[in-house]
Amino acid sequence: MTQHVTAAPALTDSVPTREWWRDAVIYQVYPRSFADGNGDGMGDLPGVTARLPHLRDLGVDAVWLSPFYASPQADAGYDVADYRAVDPMFGTLTDADDLVREAHSLGLRVIVDLVPNHCSDQHEWFKQALREGPGSPLRDRFHFRPGKGDDGELPPNDWESIFGGPAWTRVEDGSWYLHLFAPEQPDFNWDHPAVKDEFRSILRFWLDLGIDGFRIDVAHGLVKAEGLPDIGHEEQVKLLGSQAVPYFDQDGVHEIYRDWRKILDEYTREDGTERIAVAEAWTPTVERSALYLRPDELHQAFNFEYLTTEWDADALRAVIDRSLAAMNAVDAPATWVLSNHDVVRHSTRFADGDEARGLRRARAATLLMLALPGSAYIYQGEELGLPEVTDLPDEVRQDPAFFRSTGQDGTRDGCRVPLPWSGERAPFGFGPVAGGPSWLPQPDSWKDLSVAAQTGDPASTLEFYRSALAVRREHPALGAGRGVEWLEAPEGVLAFRRTSATGDFVCAVNLTSSPVTLPTPGTPLLASAEADAVAAGADETVLPADSTVWWAA
Ligand code: GLC
Repeated sequence: MTQHVTAAPALTDSVPTREWWRDAVIYQVYPRSFADGNGDGMGDLPGVTARLPHLRDLGVDAVWLSPFYASPQADAGYDVADYRAVDPMFGTLTDADDLVREAHSLGLRVIVDLVPNHCSDQHEWFKQALREGPGSPLRDRFHFRPGKGDDGELPPNDWESIFGGPAWTRVEDGSWYLHLFAPEQPDFNWDHPAVKDEFRSILRFWLDLGIDGFRIDVAHGLVKAEGLPDIGHEEQVKLLGSQAVPYFDQDGVHEIYRDWRKILDEYTREDGTERIAVAEAWTPTVERSALYLRPDELHQAFNFEYLTTEWDADALRAVIDRSLAAMNAVDAPATWVLSNHDVVRHSTRFADGDEARGLRRARAATLLMLALPGSAYIYQGEELGLPEVTDLPDEVRQDPAFFRSTGQDGTRDGCRVPLPWSGERAPFGFGPVAGGPSWLPQPDSWKDLSVAAQTGDPASTLEFYRSALAVRREHPALGAGRGVEWLEAPEGVLAFRRTSATGDFVCAVNLTSSPVTLPTPGTPLLASAEADAVAAGADETVLPADSTVWWAA
């Protein structure tokens, strides 16, 4: 049922407007795991709204919410049954409206997830298509095909699902339908005019409600190569992100985004503030990603090449240079991201088996990311220094990929464990009642990592993030601009200068396992290691192992 709500008011003019997204810090909320308002163990929209002051205090510019639409949750909400309804598990449309209003009143913009590559098998269109049977025009909104083999018993082509197994499922009448992800996620046929119209209307629905932008799920997947040709390669998932495949990054997708950009531009607010779209586009090269960001297409794309780069000075410098060059060529901001709901948290990725080292590097990586020109994404819980939970019992896991033997690693539940907010007992304030449920269990050690436990402790990761974001707001040289000026530095150290009309800024990162000494370039602003490790006024600065320092210069 569609409820009617009026558009939430725009942000007040105290917030920089128009191209706010070029250097925005955007915080990803994973609604299942952020905050549970009603105590059923599952996060919800009222829970998010109640906790928005945490995000204002953290100092981010915008919130991106993973899907909260009506969904059977076969893929944690990325299987949408109704694009204009909120799942009762998460609340109501009125709760979504309240969330947007409250965010705006706190100076936060709101980006919602849009899932256009596929829907849920419980979506009305797919149910109709199944009911109507082979040959029905309603089937043309999806990719239905006869099978191969004598009795059509073999899938129509050799494509594999990203979650493992064939990308095709056979229905009772013998035909097959395409699903690049789980069988419960049939792919739309984007050659069909009804699909295009429907998504234009969905965009308008959420824009009318007052949201500030969309994160486009699987933005690279909508158009498939003509004739759905075989790939002729086993273990296809290994090709993804590095090689061309006929179901990803086809040139035809750009026409869709040019169309959407016109709609987004129509909704530019009266004061000139733009509504944006950010692409989740896993492409073989950053240059291919830049194509999504040509001036008449989308605004940003996640920089997955950066996310997948190891803790290595040369590799990071190379990806930073490549990203800036590719994005500058299309006049788009670079983006930087270290964690999200699909990957192992970066504190664990960088740990090499030592949790303390992982956290040191994670904090250093965050200061590097926040010093680069462009927009940065923070995934909920990284501001608490949460590690990946690697020992979840099999019976609590819900990631659909976990239940298949090939395909994506299936370990995505480990970064989706509900946040600890306060208290001594699980769910640590995630829900309203101590000892109450949470859809995934939290480690006992998280009582020391809760928002309440870290607030006011200057050595905590939470206060460190708050300081970093406060400094970033005060110093326009951070975030703004198009490039970095690399400075000479010892092996394993990255140092660069950022210049702005209001003052320069230097960032140095020691990626080695030993301290290094550098000439002090200015007044220290912030360090990722213990606060007193970097003294003011000295000619030389000792940079501890795996740490980053910012100076005003
Ligand atoms: C995107 C989402 C992921 C989801 C997939 C299918 O990659 O980030 O969580 O499983 O799309 O929608």
